[in-house]
Amino acid sequence: MSSSAQATALAHPNIALVKYWGNADAALRLPANSSLSMNMGGLTTVTTVTLDPTLSADQVILDGRPLGGEARARVVAHLDRVRALAGRSERARVVSRNDFPAGAGLASSASGFAALTLAATAAAGLTLSERKLSILARLGSGSACRSVPSGFVAWRPARRHQARYGVSIAPPDHWALSDVIAIVDAAHKGVGSTAGHALADTSPFQATRVATTPARFRACEAALLARDFERLASVVETEALMMHAVMLTSTPPLFYWAPATLRVMQAVRRWRKAGLPVAFTIDAGPNVHCLCPSEAADRVAARLRTIPGVAQVLRTGPGGPARLVDE
Ligand code: DP6
Repeated sequence: MSSSAQATALAHPNIALVKYWGNADAALRLPANSSLSMNMGGLTTVTTVTLDPTLSADQVILDGRPLGGEARARVVAHLDRVRALAGRSERARVVSRNDFPAGAGLASSASGFAALTLAATAAAGLTLSERKLSILARLGSGSACRSVPSGFVAWRPARRHQARYGVSIAPPDHWALSDVIAIVDAAHKGVGSTAGHALADTSPFQATRVATTPARFRACEAALLARDFERLASVVETEALMMHAVMLTSTPPLFYWAPATLRVMQAVRRWRKAGLPVAFTIDAGPNVHCLCPSEAADRVAARLRTIPGVAQVLRTGPGGPARLVDE
């Protein structure tokens, strides 16, 4: 038995600037294409894992409520990976809290599995490199591998499982970008990303999207490194629209947008034309992430609040890596 059987880790969700959509290998979560993201420093998941020899089954509590069904099974499968790696067999108590609205489509699986991976491995007495943590987190949720390193993170192509992980391309203070998130009132949650990835290849546009991603990835990386907002705006919006074009043309089709989603997208384009530096991106949900240089964030937030159907506006900037914290 290791001396410490409990550990707490914090991780931020990330917003994809170049999107992960579709897997080359679903079981290993080897993505169809490279992606690029920014950790959202203003939003956090904090997860405590306690290995407890008196437990007969894993207990998973998210935001004060016990998880059941598939969501719990996914966490248990991840704990099994960690137990196999550490050669331990105790069951675990997992207590996880998000400081952002759960189920609002803010990628809680990314921060959730990043924090779970770090807390569970530490509780089991393992000290893994950032690369190994990222690979392990990826098996729980693909985008979680990008929440392990700091700041702006690339998840590049490689055929081999061990060669696919997130790498920081710039620290959080590289660029004071804000993500002003318009939380859109949506009647019900759509299809989750895991099920969505499996449908990607049913769209005739997916092959074209995947084939043309390397050029957008390079353009996005270059824009980020050069802090060139105009270039970033154009590639980030195209990326989001390409992914949603695949979603909309899958069988069955996936409609993630609500009426307010489109209102925000149109407003953002109008504002940019009129000189306000802002660009939109959207994940597998109706919320719109409005990226802008931080000095424009107040104006963007104030304008978003006037759009009908925008229920809440959250603000965040680039965030650090997944890390261990004191309980
Ligand atoms: C639209 O990482 O949530 O947010 O691996 O099944 O957990 P799983 O999928 P997930 O997919 C993220 C999809 C996306 C785009 C992105 O974050 O790159």
